[in-house]
Amino acid sequence: MRISIIGTGYVGLVSGACFSKLGLNVICVDNDVEKLNRLQRNIIDIYEPGLEELVRRGIDSGKLSFSDDLPNAVNKSDIVFISVGTQGKQNGELDISQVLIASHEIAKAMSGYTLIVTKSTVPVGTGSEIERIFKNIAGKKSFDIASNPEFLREGSAVYDFLNPERIVIGCKNDKVANLLKGLYQGINLGPVFRTNIETAELIKFASNSFLATKITFINEMSILCESVGADIRDLATALKFDKRIGDTYLSPGPGYGGSCLPKDTKALFETAKNHDVQAPLINSVIQANDDRVIQLSRRVTNSFENPEGIRIGVLGTTFKANTDDIRHSPSIYLIRRLIQAGFKINTYDPKGNISTLKSLPEVQVCENAYKAAINCQAIIIMTEWEDFRVLDFNKIGKLMCNKLIFDFRNLLDEKKLLKLGFAYKGVGFKTPERIKE
Ligand SMILES: NC(=O)c1ccc[n+]([C@@H]2O[C@H](COP(=O)([O-])OP(=O)(O)OC[C@H]3O[C@@H](n4cnc5c(N)ncnc54)[C@H](O)[C@@H]3O)[C@@H](O)[C@H]2O)c1
Repeated sequence: MRISIIGTGYVGLVSGACFSKLGLNVICVDNDVEKLNRLQRNIIDIYEPGLEELVRRGIDSGKLSFSDDLPNAVNKSDIVFISVGTQGKQNGELDISQVLIASHEIAKAMSGYTLIVTKSTVPVGTGSEIERIFKNIAGKKSFDIASNPEFLREGSAVYDFLNPERIVIGCKNDKVANLLKGLYQGINLGPVFRTNIETAELIKFASNSFLATKITFINEMSILCESVGADIRDLATALKFDKRIGDTYLSPGPGYGGSCLPKDTKALFETAKNHDVQAPLINSVIQANDDRVIQLSRRVTNSFENPEGIRIGVLGTTFKANTDDIRHSPSIYLIRRLIQAGFKINTYDPKGNISTLKSLPEVQVCENAYKAAINCQAIIIMTEWEDFRVLDFNKIGKLMCNKLIFDFRNLLDEKKLLKLGFAYKGVGFKTPERIKE
């Protein structure tokens, strides 16, 4: 069985490398030729634990190859996955133009029976739109359309792909379901759930929107905790004991970010609106998450009489740990707000791709956390990197001109920092007094 994957980003590259590990012949296609050249040399633009080795092994075994020649790849393939980007538009809808362009190209190129599968996150109804394209362009050549949304998480993408909690297959007949199920043989398979294409498309948005709702809920609870003298850490722990609630996505922080949750919640809201369905819950989640960074930046600003020229160290620019992705990262939004308020910023992230920050004159991108602490009046923890937990805060304190830490991830050891003479401000509990040195 030979498969092609159109779009070699986070999803396409991880899927391609993992399918090749399962013994399938995979051609990863992209129209970014430079990126492909780097991949041939095993230079990977994105950071994902385990990915580099998997790609190298795939190339060495001859099971994984890269190409910008979409027609040739499609011609050689029985199954073609579409995993190109679907960015959010200004009005909240998703831009599916890359998916439609890829569909046109595949329809023109295919020669025999081809199964076309969308892995990209696409709004409900896109499957029907793709089917119309194939009916118009592919003529008498036989094909099927399916939806197989991807649930991998950046930061653990390879693990998630190989150990899925469920695989969703939206399709119209048993032949397609069996073909797709067959591809995943050999992995630590969770339930394979078959449904129609519309439901499969919607499951992805419902899933991400539910996760966004949990994050927003716990952030709201954390604000209440601060006001009434309760402690969000204990509250969250108690919630997690309840299996009906579950034990993930209940850590308070700077709000959700990344390339998926912000755009998928907005897109779900737009889909509802376009079908005359009220979705007040999702709408509130979106608003509350947008407000979260504003609230947190006010906490920093209000701690100084005049922020003008004051230097702050921001540790973590990625939207979460173990990724290099800064797309819609709360940290980047916070940095921009702090700059507007007059602060100067030192930043450090172990992997974050900070090219966008480098152009800002108010930002100094540092090569480690210690350099980022130099001459700072405060440090803000924005990403839950393990690296930050184990920093030498005694040394950090000596490099700063004021020992103040805003820990917006509740990552650090509060007692230890207080003993070292820091003022420590986490989220969701009353700030204890600084212990005088
Ligand atoms: N990133 C995630 O964690 C994640 C998880 C689940 C689902 N998704 C969804 O998967 C899709 C892809 O996301 P991503 O983060 O991998 O995107 P990405 O932007 O990292 O990668 C998309 C790739 O597609 C390529 N491309 C675009 N048009 C093309 C064409 N016509 N022919 C060949 N290549 C083309 C681009 O050059 C790019 O390399 C999106 O719909 C996203 O919402 C993403």
